[in-house]
Amino acid sequence: MKQKGKQFKLRIEKLVHGGKGLGRLNGKAVFVPHVAPGDLIIAEETARKNSYSEARLVKILERGKGRVKPKCPYFGKCGGCDWQHLKYSEQVKAKKQIVEENLQKIGRIKKPNVDEVIPSPSPWNYRNRAQIKVKAGKVGFFAKNSHFVIDIDRCPLLKEDIEDIFPKLKELLNLLPTQPSEFHVYSSGKDEVLLKIVYQGRFKRFELPLEKVREVLKVNLVGYGIYKTGKEGYPERIEFFGRDFTYEPVGKFKFRVSADSFFQVNRFQVGNLIEKVARVAMEHQYMLAGDLYCGVGTLTIPVGRYVHRAFGVESNFWAVSDALYNKDINGLRNVQFFCRETEEALKIIRDYSPDLVIVDPPRSGLNDRIIKTLASLPRLKKIVYVSCEPSTLARDVATFHHYGINMERAKVLDMFPQTYHVETIAILRKVR
Ligand SMILES: C[S@@+](CC[C@H](N)C(=O)[O-])C[C@H]1O[C@@H](n2cnc3c(N)ncnc32)[C@H](O)[C@@H]1O
Repeated sequence: MKQKGKQFKLRIEKLVHGGKGLGRLNGKAVFVPHVAPGDLIIAEETARKNSYSEARLVKILERGKGRVKPKCPYFGKCGGCDWQHLKYSEQVKAKKQIVEENLQKIGRIKKPNVDEVIPSPSPWNYRNRAQIKVKAGKVGFFAKNSHFVIDIDRCPLLKEDIEDIFPKLKELLNLLPTQPSEFHVYSSGKDEVLLKIVYQGRFKRFELPLEKVREVLKVNLVGYGIYKTGKEGYPERIEFFGRDFTYEPVGKFKFRVSADSFFQVNRFQVGNLIEKVARVAMEHQYMLAGDLYCGVGTLTIPVGRYVHRAFGVESNFWAVSDALYNKDINGLRNVQFFCRETEEALKIIRDYSPDLVIVDPPRSGLNDRIIKTLASLPRLKKIVYVSCEPSTLARDVATFHHYGINMERAKVLDMFPQTYHVETIAILRKVR
């Protein structure tokens, strides 16, 4: 039997990056999940480190003002959400504080200029895609920090047409000769659904008519594919049936998005992200904008309307082919795309010498070589850094500062309600 940890009373001061609440026991930091600022709780220590402890919530003695009843019966067990027990306004407040703290502590900016958070127009049914896990007949999401699958019926974060797809995916399992490890479901702004059936290891090939899969899933399925997890951990396409792309209308723009391309997950916030980034391009007559990690051209194309010329760099072949198509359907002739890893495109970037740069890297952020190259561009005026990870953003902001580029201000966009994840748009200016 697991030994019980030490129990103690704890007042929660605030929420921190990672979603946990912070309290102090005799001055030492204690981190507890699923608590709210102002809560007085009985906590039980689960891990002790030199400078802090981890604990679990045993009992709430006094409820913090921001507490609400979680909407989803799986909250607390399912690893997908961290903050359903908090009012949406509290979540938004915490996100601003978390970005500020990262910029202060890691970014070494005394008083970072962070604007009010742009909240998600709806904190529910916002997600257009999900990676759904399958194990021993269970279909759902992993429990927090575990590979245990929580079997679920519905997820209130997903778009209405796919929020209850879980039991139907279970039905689909009966038709498959081998049980997959994941289903990736994506429903676009046109309510067109694409499905990836992902295998890890050996599996039997099959060919189900698209109409049959559509009938079982009861969604507007336009295509499905069979995938195998490759060496890098990403699903590699084996076969696709039906159409392998859909469209995303966003304001006056339209984007083709292939099954294997990235598209922003919060359907209500893509327009706001585009608007905020394009606004920077509007503020000055830029000659050339470089958009690194450009995906299907979601930012390159809108920015391209306000600058003389623009180019995008993206490593995913499918995304680049979408981006090339998207520039045509949006009527842009001054935009070009390169299918390269950013690290391999540094010579192109140097030769092109943009005066405006947009970067939207994965969570790991940028590396020193990329930052140094951008900082050495002779015509560079501004960098718009879109980030989904405040700690690597703050680290990179500190490196940019070292090379003479300062953060002017940052905007926080809530792309991921009910979770601690946060999207930041930082505007950086070359000062020397
Ligand atoms: C966070 S997404 C941003 C996409 C785009 N800016 C948007 O708003 O839709 C990051 C993109 O970077 C691409 N990517 C990942 N690693 C890369 C690398 N080393 N070089 C270039 N692109 C990369 C991914 O394929 C993905 O499309």
